[in-house]
Amino acid sequence: MSQSHLHASNLFSVEGRVAVITGGGSGLGSIMARALAINGAAKVFVLGRRENALQETVARSPPGVVIPIQCDVTSKESLEAAYQAVKSQTTHVDILFANGGILGPLMRPRQNEDGTPIPLSELRDELFNVPMEEFTNVLNVNVTGAYYTVLAFLPLLEAANKRRQATKPGVLSPPTAQVVITSSIAGFNRNVPFSYAYNTSKAAATHLVKVLSTTLSGYDIRVNGIAPGLYLSEMSNNVFEEKGIQSGGVTEGSFPKEMIPIRRGGSEEDFAGLVVWMASASGGYLSGAMMLTDGGRVSVVPNTY
Ligand SMILES: NC(=O)c1ccc[n+]([C@@H]2O[C@H](COP(=O)([O-])OP(=O)(O)OC[C@H]3O[C@@H](n4cnc5c(N)ncnc54)[C@H](OP(=O)(O)O)[C@@H]3O)[C@@H](O)[C@H]2O)c1
Repeated sequence: MSQSHLHASNLFSVEGRVAVITGGGSGLGSIMARALAINGAAKVFVLGRRENALQETVARSPPGVVIPIQCDVTSKESLEAAYQAVKSQTTHVDILFANGGILGPLMRPRQNEDGTPIPLSELRDELFNVPMEEFTNVLNVNVTGAYYTVLAFLPLLEAANKRRQATKPGVLSPPTAQVVITSSIAGFNRNVPFSYAYNTSKAAATHLVKVLSTTLSGYDIRVNGIAPGLYLSEMSNNVFEEKGIQSGGVTEGSFPKEMIPIRRGGSEEDFAGLVVWMASASGGYLSGAMMLTDGGRVSVVPNTY
């Protein structure tokens, strides 16, 4: 009997897929877009506020596959306009990545040199000084924005399901439509990175995967999440700069074992491989799942940032 169904080219094929990626102009969203485009996706729509960033992803991808659309996920009007722009260029969307996000204010309380807590009055001043709008903005982009992004694209995801061939006995059906929300290990961990706004927003994003997965399973739309650890991007760049880490931190030994057991930051290959698998035929059994890609960081309960 032929074993060709187990060949990597079949297991991980994303040939012909149509994807939408928010935050596709930089960092992890750019890796998602390029990985899908390089591996045969038909169309990859990248959404974000900065046209020049989106164009950079286009320039780094095979010609004609990646399509930039300016969009602010905190505006329903902007999301609706982006939805209409995508709808005018495709009949369906196989996979939607709600990936755009911001870090916001760091809110990392100082400690005394000996590691003991600073006086409560100082802690109060430090944290109370952060404008409420800055806190709310993080929740707005990372949670509200992700939620409305998913809602905006539901009809095109449903259209992808309608294109699926009728099931045949003994033949694996192609994957159903999928939403992937980028959360973070910050949603599981109290200390990484130390920001009350970001960490709570990512805990909420993780929960959003669960609640939307439950609702949308009734419509055969799968919802999954990715919880990255530390990958070099515009958002995380300061960690690498603070520690003087070169070459994207992907060299083994770039980070101490106590911080990241695998002793390096995440690489483009680590992330691209995960995304291609999730989007491929062999990712079709994922539903309501949260994929952790952090080199073991969340397991070591770090006190270091
Ligand atoms: N890098 C890491 O180590 C890491 C770890 C855990 C989780 N994450 C998560 O991964 C996702 C991607 O972040 P990244 O690391 O790739 O950082 P990044 O390079 O800063 O990317 C964030 C992207 O989100 C977009 N964005 C921000 N606000 C937006 C808005 N209102 N509307 C539309 N797009 C918006 C930005 O584009 P514009 O500014 O052009 O709008 C940008 O392309 C985020 O959700 C982040 O929380 C990253």
